[in-house]
Amino acid sequence: MLKVRPELEDLVPYDPGKPIEELERERGIKAIKLASNENPIGPSPKAVEAIKRAAFKVNRYPDGACYYLRKKLANFLGVGEKNLIFGNGSNEIIEILMRTFLEPKDEVVYAWPAFVVYKLISKAMGLKAIEVPLTEDLRHDLDAMADAITERTKMVFVANPNNPTGTIVKKDEVERFLSKIPDHVIVVFDEAYYEFACKDPDFPDLKEIAVKGEKNLILMRTFSKAYGLAGLRIGYGISNETIIDYMNRVRQPFNVNLLAQEAALAALDDQEHVKKTVELTKKGLSYFYRCFEEMGLEYVPSYANFVLVKAGKGREVFEKLLDRGVIVRAMDGYSLPEYIRVNVGLSEENEKFISALKQVLSEV
Ligand SMILES: Cc1ncc(COP(=O)(O)O)c(C=O)c1O
Repeated sequence: MLKVRPELEDLVPYDPGKPIEELERERGIKAIKLASNENPIGPSPKAVEAIKRAAFKVNRYPDGACYYLRKKLANFLGVGEKNLIFGNGSNEIIEILMRTFLEPKDEVVYAWPAFVVYKLISKAMGLKAIEVPLTEDLRHDLDAMADAITERTKMVFVANPNNPTGTIVKKDEVERFLSKIPDHVIVVFDEAYYEFACKDPDFPDLKEIAVKGEKNLILMRTFSKAYGLAGLRIGYGISNETIIDYMNRVRQPFNVNLLAQEAALAALDDQEHVKKTVELTKKGLSYFYRCFEEMGLEYVPSYANFVLVKAGKGREVFEKLLDRGVIVRAMDGYSLPEYIRVNVGLSEENEKFISALKQVLSEV
């Protein structure tokens, strides 16, 4: 008889939603997807050219050390080459981290609702997950998270900005929080939406602390969001050399594919594209806020490229939006059943969403 680890029995796989083409085929409609916090303007044309140029080389394994990308990114960030680790998306960095430092029954602390992958990997590894509720205004409660740390806690996750709320924790809060972290704990700041938030004067710049190693701190970032390379799967971690060295022992030798490395190299050279993406996102968010206010809907002001809006019966609204060819995220799985999460799209997509939402809300 098939024997599976007991902790997997009640684990529900991550639900990525339906491919847009499938929804269009099933329902015979044109659809738009504003559900996965992707970049609506696409990848940088420079990245596309790099992918085309590299396509003929895919008979070879990729560079297992990400030699050129490491050099370029280290220079771009002003950190050492040994302070970086690359992953098949920042999702893989989360997994490598947990597999490197955690044993079954160890404790991890993260907020809830926050990025669901912390929960999924904790469950799959048989860890003891301490979930600290967000504050009433849906922000991380860093004081409560620090208080939740025990002798057995090995890792704490903070998504900044947080997904699905789009909220941030601020410089002074983070400073106080880090001062309370004992030496046996690794703090992970998941900065997948960094580029959208980093210009805010309250946003903490933690790179130097992470690299110096006075605290066990790692930052995670990604090329999936502002850089528009989600389909290629490439993210990275920034930390002190000791943490990175241990993680490299666990990492698969060729974990970042060849096209992803080439595209990321080219994308780094196109900061104009990132700027354009961030500007479009801010405009889209302002448009959403204006519309939500006119419609009398509560929303959570966001520092990322998506926003949570209180739509009432979230799951029903989600389903009815699907009928109209608009894919967003229902939030019942994140304990926010009254909300939906929508990411900023192109302006015509944003308008289509708002118009569909108005129709749907008049029906439910
Ligand atoms: C907070 C957060 N962290 C990490 C990720 C994973 O990003 P990726 O694996 O594409 O780099 C996401 C993706 O949605 C996210 O929202």
